[in-house]
Order: sequence, then C-alpha cells, then structure tokens
Amino acid sequence: MTVANRDILMKDISKETDFPLSFEEWEQKASEVMHAGGYGYASTGAGRNETAKRNEEAFSKWAIVPRMLNDVSNVDMSVNLFGRRYKTPFLLSPIGMQTLAHEEGELATAKAAEAMGVPFIVSTVSAYSLEEIAEAAPNGCNWFQLYFSTVNPELSYSMVERAEKAGYEAIVITVDTTMAGWRETDMRNQFSPLSLGYGKGNYVSDPVFMKSLENHDLESIVAGILENIQHPSLTWKDVAEVKKRTKLPVLIKGILHQDDAKTALSYGVDGIIVSNHGGRQLDGVIASIDALPGIVEAVDGKIPVLLDSGVRRGIDAVKALALGADAVLIGRPFLYGLAVHGQQGVEKVLERFVQETEVSLALSGIADLSQRVTVTTR
Ligand SMILES: Cc1cc2nc3c(=O)[nH]c(=O)nc-3n(C[C@H](O)[C@H](O)[C@H](O)COP(=O)(O)O)c2cc1C
Repeated sequence: MTVANRDILMKDISKETDFPLSFEEWEQKASEVMHAGGYGYASTGAGRNETAKRNEEAFSKWAIVPRMLNDVSNVDMSVNLFGRRYKTPFLLSPIGMQTLAHEEGELATAKAAEAMGVPFIVSTVSAYSLEEIAEAAPNGCNWFQLYFSTVNPELSYSMVERAEKAGYEAIVITVDTTMAGWRETDMRNQFSPLSLGYGKGNYVSDPVFMKSLENHDLESIVAGILENIQHPSLTWKDVAEVKKRTKLPVLIKGILHQDDAKTALSYGVDGIIVSNHGGRQLDGVIASIDALPGIVEAVDGKIPVLLDSGVRRGIDAVKALALGADAVLIGRPFLYGLAVHGQQGVEKVLERFVQETEVSLALSGIADLSQRVTVTTR
C-alpha cells in the first residue's frame, strides 16, 4: 500500500466497524472474551506492574522532530534480516500457550503472519507443535524461540534440530526467564497454564522428552515440562553450544545491559532482542525502549538489534526505529487480536500497525528505513 492509496484505505477502515482500532479497545474486548485466568496471565506484569507500565509510558518521553519536503508519496518500510527482505519492520513476539486466547492458537497466528508477510516467533511452550504450526502456514516465515533446558540439554538440541528441519529460519534463545517472575495475579487466580498442560505441544512431540519420562500421562508430562523449563544455571556456554549445533542465525532475547550485548557479540550471536518480557519477569527493570540506545551503541551495527515490550501502536515502532532498532516485535496486541477474532484479528492488528507506521514515517519525512527519524527527549 503506497501512501498515495491512503484514500482507499481510509474508506476500507470506515467500513470495518466490527474491528477495534486502538490497543486499548482490543485489550478491552479480549478481557471480555478470555477466561479470567487466561486474561490475567496475559495482561499483567510481575510484582507491582511497574515495568509493564513503564514500558508503555517510556515511549512518551521521546518526541519526534519531523523533517519536511522529502517526497514521501511512496514509503518503503522494507527491512533486511538475515538475508531475507521483509515488507515491513514487524515480527510477532514469541507468546506461549496461545490456545488460552483462541482454540486455534498458534495455527491461526501463523496463518495471519503468513498472510501479512511477517515472521512469527514460535514459543517453546506453544500449544501446538512447531511442525503443526509450520504446516499450517507453509509459505510463512517462522523463527523458533528456545527455553533452554539445563537439566536435559539434549532436549533443547532436539527442538533446535526439529525447528531447522521444519523450515524455521532463526533460533531465538530467551535468557530472561531462567525461572518464572513474581506474578501475583496468577497466584491470586491460582492459575498456572503450564501446569494445566497448555504448553505441551513441543514436548509431547519430542522423542528426547518422551524418552526421558517413565509414564506418558498428563501429570508426568506436566511434571517433566516444569522440570525442564526452569534453567537458573544457564550461561553463555549453552548459547555457544546451540550456535555450534545449528546453521540458523541465533538471537538472544532479553538483553538490557550494554555489557551483555558486547558479550553476545564476542560469542558470535547473530542478533539481539532488547526486551524485558513485557514486564512479566523482573519487575522494576528499565523500560525496553530506554535500554535500546545503549545496546545499539554497544553493538555498533555489527548485528541486528530488535526490540519488544510496550509497543502498542505504529508511532511506538517509529520511535524504536528512530532509536536504532532494525525491527520491532509486537506482543500482547496480536494476542488480543487473536482472542477477539482469531486469525483475522491478528491480521487486523498487524494492518493497523503497518498503516499507522507508514503514515507516521511519511509525516516524519521518511521515505525509506535507511533514513532515520530524529527524536529528542522533551
Ligand atoms: C501471555 C504471554 C506469554 C509469553 N510467552 C513467552 C514465551 O513463551 N517465550 C518468550 O520468549 N516470551 C514470551 N512472552 C514475552 C513476549 O515474547 C514479549 O517479550 C512481550 O510480550 C513484550 O511485551 P508486550 O507484549 O507488553 O509488548 C510472553 C508474553 C505474554 C504476554
């Protein structure tokens, strides 16, 4: 869609009264259709929600200083990541157990991502197996997010191998979830979706995991998952081992400190995702967008730097790109789209992002992403 076609676009949008526009509207609708436990699990952060709130508020500290008179009739938002050109700078964050939002879960999300040409990062704790998700969207581009198992590293290598075989294009190791954060809403609701078996898709389909269990009843499977998912002893050596065992690019998700970014470079990591897990892990940490400039400086253009946590609309993505992100991950917004309207909901959320970003880049005087929007703190 070129900017010149926007009149058509506006007409299309005005007909779409069934679909929410803003994040807040999607969230409200999602809260009405999701089970209370599932919605509580998805919507809240850890501790007193300080970081979850800060993630969103921090975007407002940054103000755009637009440029004028730079023919923006055709905004090219394409980006190059690991040898592939994508039409837009968006990816879908890894979100586990998506059947909490909609029965089709990750299958619907994968189809939406395929339709929109956006990479979908599939979680280790997806409800469906990574193979089923790949089959649901054969022309999609999926990445696989790994929760490394330190109790059984062979299980992790097996999942990485399966992902590679199933056509996944990158491995994302999440490093901020060595154990679950202090989530009071879930404690209050007595709600643990992992314990209920929602996240078993990639485990029950894994030969290494199934072989490690004496019994294959749900209770044993869940106990096995809970044992493997905690990994407080994770170190850079594990990252190095994963790198050795795959041809795919390996990204680290959850980096907030400049020195960790430098260490990642020294271990040959292929990309960094600046993230605080949407404020669900350690409460009180720096907002993702505030950590971004330091990481970009440390990485100095050597590998792609991506960002998530708190991205709610197109203008947030524009600010992240302005501060040096190569691409931006959308998390909760797409999950709420999924909850409200399944595959179509995810597509609508993505469309809103793409369209607002395009308009915002144009009004900032940017014709393609080799040009940087100027931002300042007010
Ligand atoms: C319900 C839920 C489940 C999540 N599951 C995972 C996961 O399995 N793996 C992972 O790396 N991150 C997971 N995340 C974190 C997201 O990948 C992402 O970092 C976060 O949603 C970004 O914050 P935002 O959604 O508030 O923008 C999850 C987030 C939510 C909300």
